[in-house]
Amino acid sequence: MTGQLTIALTKGRILKETLPLLAAVGIEPLDDVDRSRKLVFATTHDDVRLVIIRGTDVPTYVRHGAADMGVVGKDILLEHGAEGLYEPLDLGIARCRLMTAGRVGWRSDGGRIRVATKFVNIARRHFARRGVHADVIKLYGAMELAPLMDLADLIVDIVDTGNTLRANGMEPLEEIAAISSRLVVNKAAMRSRHADIQRLVDQLATVVAVS
Ligand code: PRP
Repeated sequence: MTGQLTIALTKGRILKETLPLLAAVGIEPLDDVDRSRKLVFATTHDDVRLVIIRGTDVPTYVRHGAADMGVVGKDILLEHGAEGLYEPLDLGIARCRLMTAGRVGWRSDGGRIRVATKFVNIARRHFARRGVHADVIKLYGAMELAPLMDLADLIVDIVDTGNTLRANGMEPLEEIAAISSRLVVNKAAMRSRHADIQRLVDQLATVVAVS
C-alpha cells in the first residue's frame, strides 16, 4: 500500500458486525476496541488504522478526507446526505427498517399531523411525497415517548425487532426505507489511492457475498 489508510467506524452494532468482516480480510485492531478509551487503533495490517467516532460524524470525516473510508448506516446517509462520498458496497449488516409508527389504533383524520423524529429531513421528504401536511419536531432520542406524552401523533424511527414500539403501546405503520450499513469512500482518495482502496472493497465484497 502507498501510506496508511484510515477507516472510520462507530461503536455498537456496526462495530460488532464490521470487525469480523475486517478480520476476514486480515485487519484486526491491536487493542480491545470495546474496552479501550482510545479513539485511534493500529491494526494487524501495518497500513490500516481504525478511528472510532459517532455515526453521524462518519460522513463528515470521510467527506473531508480525515478518514479515507468508513462504515455508516444508510439512515445517516439518507438524513445527512452523501455528497462527496462514494458508496461502493452494501455490507448487509446492522439491518433494520426506517418506519413511521403511532399509538396502537391511531388513525389520521386527514388533517395536519405532528411527527417527532431525529430524522427530520427523511420525515419531511416522506410526508411531502405523500401530500401530508406534517409538522416535524426534532428529538434526539426516545422517540417512542412522544406520542404517549401527546407531543406528536407519529414518529419516524428505526425498527429492528419492534420490541421498543410494543413495549410502549405503539405499532409500526409504514416502511420508509430498508436500512443496512454501507462502506463509504472519500472521492479524492478513491482516485489517488484507487488500487489500494479498490482491492480492499473487492476483498470485503467477497466476504460479504459468502457471509
Ligand atoms: C433504536 C431505535 C429504537 C430501537 C428499535 O434505538 O431508536 O429505539 O433501536 O429497536 P427494536 O425494534 O429492536 O426495539 P437504538 O438502540 O439504536 O438507540 P438510539 O436511540 O441511540 O438510536
